[in-house]
Amino acid sequence: MGVFLKPDTSVKLGRLELKNPVMTASGTFGYALEFEPYMDVERLGAVVLKGLSLKPRDGNPPPRSCETPCGMLNSIGLQNVGVEAFIKEKLPRLKRLKTRVVANIFGETIIEYAEVARRLDSADGVDAVEVNISCPNVKKGGLSFGSDPSGAAKVVTAVRKATKLHVMTKLSPNVTDIRVMVRAVEDAGTDSISLINTIPGMAIDVERRRAVLSTVTGGLSGPAIRPIAVRMVWEAAKAATVPIVGIGGIVNARDALEFIMAGATAVEIGTANFLDPASAIAVVHGIEEYMRKNGVRTIKEITGAVN
Ligand code: FUM
Repeated sequence: MGVFLKPDTSVKLGRLELKNPVMTASGTFGYALEFEPYMDVERLGAVVLKGLSLKPRDGNPPPRSCETPCGMLNSIGLQNVGVEAFIKEKLPRLKRLKTRVVANIFGETIIEYAEVARRLDSADGVDAVEVNISCPNVKKGGLSFGSDPSGAAKVVTAVRKATKLHVMTKLSPNVTDIRVMVRAVEDAGTDSISLINTIPGMAIDVERRRAVLSTVTGGLSGPAIRPIAVRMVWEAAKAATVPIVGIGGIVNARDALEFIMAGATAVEIGTANFLDPASAIAVVHGIEEYMRKNGVRTIKEITGAVN
């Protein structure tokens, strides 16, 4: 096994090149700008921003998050500033960052998804859209599209027509067979697929005899869901012809490498950002160290090593 100085950590999601496979997960990293005082955001392969809708949203009433063993439940309800305020107030500062910018998008209707994508397409500074058809915490949109192959395909078809940007589709684990969803969004023209979003869950305060979250149920994330996520990424990667982005409870480089060996081209770090805002950077360093120690020159050499 050779020891060499600079492993090549770059990866390609279709035509979109990332300097390394480490991205942040939507909803855990704000609009990225908030993290600049705490870390060198430009060390990341990409930042995936808080989900954007056509109009601003207040989200669900509190309490809307709580800790659980090895994870957390959230039911934020896609609170965000809306796509126009994002373009005016956030994008000018974001576009000077030397990293890829991925805007996560959401709509209550197919027309809204397409309209958000269209507005981002004509705004300079976004490299890709991540189409969120998997949020379990909203009454309209989200999982109502992502749990049905034909609904998912309709959203992706509309977004595909609305933008020339790279289209990544974020899938839910809350389906019987992930391979069916993979084929549906691929046929509809997605350029890549990210998974998994959170798993619907619930916690009860036994003193108050009430659900902890205002919405009763929420989405479970964190290390508790990682083995499920690794399994689903492995299944998706075998079924897919487009690149897969793995998400689910990654807190360190070894976790990220599990997803890569299961077939993911890149990964997103989510819940770990709440524990340590710089955890995604530690994952970048840890992957480089693993590659150096194990004589791995390019990420491709280990992608899908377990198939
Ligand atoms: O409730 C939320 O904002 C969560 C969104 C998601 O999981 O996609």
